[in-house]
Amino acid sequence: MGSVGAKEVPVLLSPEGLRIDGRHLDELRPIRIVAGALRQADGSAFVEWGANKVMAAVYGPREVHPRHLQQNNKAIVQCRYNMAAFSVDERKRPGLDRRSQEISKVISEAFESVIFAEEFPRTSIDIYIEVLQANAGTRCAGIVAASVALADAGIPMVDLLPAVAVGKVGGAIALDLKKEEDNFGEADMPMALVPQSGRLVLLQMEGHMTREELSKSLDLGVTGCRAIYEKMKQALRDRYAGGEAAA
Ligand code: CDP
Repeated sequence: MGSVGAKEVPVLLSPEGLRIDGRHLDELRPIRIVAGALRQADGSAFVEWGANKVMAAVYGPREVHPRHLQQNNKAIVQCRYNMAAFSVDERKRPGLDRRSQEISKVISEAFESVIFAEEFPRTSIDIYIEVLQANAGTRCAGIVAASVALADAGIPMVDLLPAVAVGKVGGAIALDLKKEEDNFGEADMPMALVPQSGRLVLLQMEGHMTREELSKSLDLGVTGCRAIYEKMKQALRDRYAGGEAAA
């Protein structure tokens, strides 16, 4: 163990190549997705992903507020990502900080590129993402939840949008970073994939990687997204094949 300031830096990768929680480098944290978790929204989904707990609710297509944002040829897609004050170890100040605004913007843009917005001119499709418990990868968990919620609301889309963060920990490229890996690792790269076309509609990176590591990370992320895609489809099948009522 080394130390950075007062904080102990944990060993992120064992000599056997296992991670801080015992996972292999290409292993996802456990994911549970429930489609239709809320009664009031037009569509909703709850995602537990590792220690993340994220709820998404979708409303629309509905009247645009504020009115001047209305577009005559298509629906606008508005996402609000929010972290609950109790979602992190140190109480987060409630409300939309810069980080939440940036995440809301990139998620709105990701969904704008898959929703058939021109089918609903002069309307708004509103996506609310509430992070109830955070442990790294919350924007990806939010995208997965929102995507299932959009499908639950019957919004026509090119495809579902699986997302995952890849990164570099202990010198190795790893899938789906948890908090310690995000905090103390060398790089963190969230991405969202349109599975059918292979198009990336969100890609961000903090940290440092070589060109080879970046290429390996993209491959690992795409494989991870495809595995998550299967779980998203299963969640929708469970909801509609079973005909379960919303909570
Ligand atoms: O959550 P995500 O990885 O998409 O975003 P991030 O900005 O890389 O944040 C990584 C993690 O840091 C979050 O998931 C939280 O666990 C934590 N965090 C926090 O404790 N307090 C904040 N104000 C923001 C993030």
